[in-house]
Amino acid sequence: MAILSIRIIGDPVLRTVAEPVTEFGPELAKLVSDMTETMEDVDGAGLAAPQIGVSQRVFTYRIGGVEGHIINPVLENSEEFQPDEVEGCLSIPGLAFPVRRRQTTRATGVDLNGNPVSIEAEGMLARCFQHETDHLDGILFTDRLEGEDRKTALRAIRAANYHSVTEQTTAKRATTVASSFGSFGVAE
Ligand code: NI
Repeated sequence: MAILSIRIIGDPVLRTVAEPVTEFGPELAKLVSDMTETMEDVDGAGLAAPQIGVSQRVFTYRIGGVEGHIINPVLENSEEFQPDEVEGCLSIPGLAFPVRRRQTTRATGVDLNGNPVSIEAEGMLARCFQHETDHLDGILFTDRLEGEDRKTALRAIRAANYHSVTEQTTAKRATTVASSFGSFGVAE
């Protein structure tokens, strides 16, 4: 297993629609294993493959003690929205805003052995699935913001020196077991 470095906003891979997984073998198993370890290392609630530079439709999740992964996920969202909750993103360090998400979703896909997976999710897990599936379509949570929050977020992204943030993050990770983003609610 290996801890992978996380791609930061500005990296084109985060804006690329990821390809469906077609090969189910040891490489995919290693990818899922490394993504899981990386997510745990940064105390993240979820991680999508593009965030570690792999443009494939895979994400891992970790909500309320439940961990897993879904490959080639397809979501069926409810019409209703859930109360807005603050989200962050490991690829946009330091930013956190309330995001509007659907109340429930059913995620279907396959696991790393190609076996079908179908998970009914609500609340935070449904939020996580929507955030991670967005990553696979090149969408970041800041794209979901409206009004003043959107303006504030875009201004902050423009002003931030994300190259130096990446270095800080790496340094922090080396010195603490705790999350670098723990104070920002859900960091996915
Ligand atoms: Ni994210």
